[in-house]
Amino acid sequence: MTETGNLYADLSGFYDLFCAEVNYAEQCAFTKRVFDAFSASGGQQYLDLACGTGAHIQIMQSLGFTSTGLDNSAHMLEQAASRCPEAKFILSDMSSFQGNEQYDLISCFLYSIHYSHPVSNLKRTLKRTFDALKPGGVFVFNTVDIDGINNCHFVSTQVNTTSSRLTFVSGWSYAGQGEVMDLHLSITQERADTHETTDNTMPRVWRDRHTMTAVNIEHLSRWLIETGYEVTLLEHDYSSLQAWSQNSFNIIVVASKPQ
Ligand SMILES: C[S@@+](CC[C@H](N)C(=O)[O-])C[C@H]1O[C@@H](n2cnc3c(N)ncnc32)[C@H](O)[C@@H]1O
Repeated sequence: MTETGNLYADLSGFYDLFCAEVNYAEQCAFTKRVFDAFSASGGQQYLDLACGTGAHIQIMQSLGFTSTGLDNSAHMLEQAASRCPEAKFILSDMSSFQGNEQYDLISCFLYSIHYSHPVSNLKRTLKRTFDALKPGGVFVFNTVDIDGINNCHFVSTQVNTTSSRLTFVSGWSYAGQGEVMDLHLSITQERADTHETTDNTMPRVWRDRHTMTAVNIEHLSRWLIETGYEVTLLEHDYSSLQAWSQNSFNIIVVASKPQ
């Protein structure tokens, strides 16, 4: 049975399993290294855009940051709030969040910056983060250059629970022109071999498709500079801080607000 669902709404209970292979601890240790190397604002106020279920916030709190998470899904924020009861949360689109709070560090991971759609909204997000940073503050996020999208490349993860086997698949597609790329997601739930059940609904398959903004790194860098940021591009390798080689398409952007 194939159904449609939204990973960030009715299927949000699957989200952490979907990300079972994401190394959040490594990403946070990397973010702290970036912060130590690039920030000059003096504090540890942290905002995570598109925070999802709060995995980064939980770890950044343990590294000493006073944390706020922002997401436009109430379902995801509900889980984040129960995971991180000491953090603050904002339900908002990342391009238009309100408030006068000033941050030392803003992040946006798992390519979520591309959810700022269309490009006019992405530019608003860059401006909004710039305004929300203290002088000397840092905005760090990962991005994929549109020239690197391979329509045939899908990532698959399998997780066994006591009663079922879950297969998660994700991949982007790009039509070759324009500012839209699609993220395709699917979840397949099958009965675990060892589990005896009379549940006849399995296997179940859910499909989800998200519209995201396609960018290339040259344009993105220009928009950041026009916003007022100083830009450093790094290789997409959370185990080290390496300058971008200009040969890869997954990139970590460090955007610093001058003092
Ligand atoms: C791929 S998840 C990433 C979650 C988290 N950053 C992580 O690394 O696990 C994308 C998140 O972005 C949120 N999101 C999508 N569009 C958004 C927007 N325009 N503004 C704010 N959040 C958005 C979704 O609700 C979802 O929680």
